[in-house]
Amino acid sequence: MARPKIVFQCQSCGYASPKWLGKCPDCSSWNSFSEEQRITKFSATSTAEPVSLSKITASSYERTTTGIDELDRTLGGGVVRGSVVLIGGDPGIGKSTIILQALEGLTEVGKLLYVSGEESPEQVKMRADRLGIKSDDIILLPETSLEGIMTVAREIKPKVIVIDSIQTIFSQDLPSSPGSVGQIRECATKLMFMAKKNGTPLFLIGHVTKEGAIAGPKVLEHIVDTVLYFEGDKGNPFRLIRAVKNRFGPANEIGVFEMTEKGLREVDNPSQLFLSEKPNDVSGSVVTVCIEGTRPLLVEIQALVSTSKFGVPRRMGLGVDSNRINLLIAVLDKRIGMQLGGMDIFVNVVGGLKIDEPAVDMGIITAIASSMKNKPVAQGTITFGEVGLSGELRAISQSETRIKEAAKLGFKKAIVPTNNAKKIKVPDIEIIGVKNVEEALDILFF
Ligand code: TYD
Ligand code: MG
Repeated sequence: MARPKIVFQCQSCGYASPKWLGKCPDCSSWNSFSEEQRITKFSATSTAEPVSLSKITASSYERTTTGIDELDRTLGGGVVRGSVVLIGGDPGIGKSTIILQALEGLTEVGKLLYVSGEESPEQVKMRADRLGIKSDDIILLPETSLEGIMTVAREIKPKVIVIDSIQTIFSQDLPSSPGSVGQIRECATKLMFMAKKNGTPLFLIGHVTKEGAIAGPKVLEHIVDTVLYFEGDKGNPFRLIRAVKNRFGPANEIGVFEMTEKGLREVDNPSQLFLSEKPNDVSGSVVTVCIEGTRPLLVEIQALVSTSKFGVPRRMGLGVDSNRINLLIAVLDKRIGMQLGGMDIFVNVVGGLKIDEPAVDMGIITAIASSMKNKPVAQGTITFGEVGLSGELRAISQSETRIKEAAKLGFKKAIVPTNNAKKIKVPDIEIIGVKNVEEALDILFF
């Protein structure tokens, strides 16, 4: 028999405890615990049939395209039947905009249900007018009760369901307030069962909290099939959508957009965009190539080294890990003898991109060295490679793909790890293999 069980759960990370706690042992937030009811159900029968692995025939997933290539790409090639997609991001970044644009493309399959728990139908209509979307097949439902949504969904049998946002939805079965971890999990799970049963794709939209963690929706990451997060700040028009998790395609794939007066516009050549404002002949700036998902991207890395006014110099990284920067500064200090001890050092990845692959090491080191020496890197030069603690340059994956992208955009010289250089054959670009940071900097700043 179903038996309600009381647990206390941290509202920012989902940690559960049988008694109330003042401070969360997991995420260290204070006063974040509230009472949640869990419904435990036990079933003694199984409805699933065991099958031998060899008997399963893998049919390719049935996908529907949204008409937005960059979005389809992050989804792994379109919307999969019965898949559950979580779209997360800061408030005002463009979540409702992208989903409305996607729905327009999906109307081909039939009626779509857009549940708006945050905005009135008039507000959604205003946005649709702005985007130039008019379709009889997009059904708007201003509802926050889960039971209400399920009833309407059963009646109109939509081909796609969108919940904007999951934090506003609540189930009458639970006493806790909307937006609490318990409610979010319960509502998402019930909606997911419905989606899987009917083969309807389900999009859940979730907000990020100030701290940067998706409180609430974070607990959904393991339930859903695909997690898409918006990157980039509201200050600039570029918006990146990254597939953090994808059961139906490569993870880490990104889609690049530009926010315009008429909604999000796809950016066809992101490398060109990221380099469009790169200054020439200025120290502290270098171009490197990273791989995001399956495609290479040229990005500009900037560094600024200045004498510190305080006892403890500041080290800051935007778009790259600060620990990585500290490590690379130590390499420059010890292996090259660069006096960076009393310097404030800031590193920035232009365009709001976040890079966490080691190939960016050479970019960071070169930008810092260039700013410190006050010597610009020659135009048309790129560099990449992982830097080890003894200053050696280590080979990285997909070097040829990276070089091809650079050559395509007119770069003439690439300074790369020796072990990579041996294997690359690309015309129109000079490839120089180097063993360590010292050799690389000698060539870059002769
Ligand atoms: P929205 O999709 O409502 O954000 P979210 O759902 O993530 O909270 O986007 C809101 C922002 O986008 C708002 O600042 C206005 C801007 N915007 C445009 O610049 N152009 C447009 O065509 C639209 C619809 C929104
Ligand atoms: Mg919104």
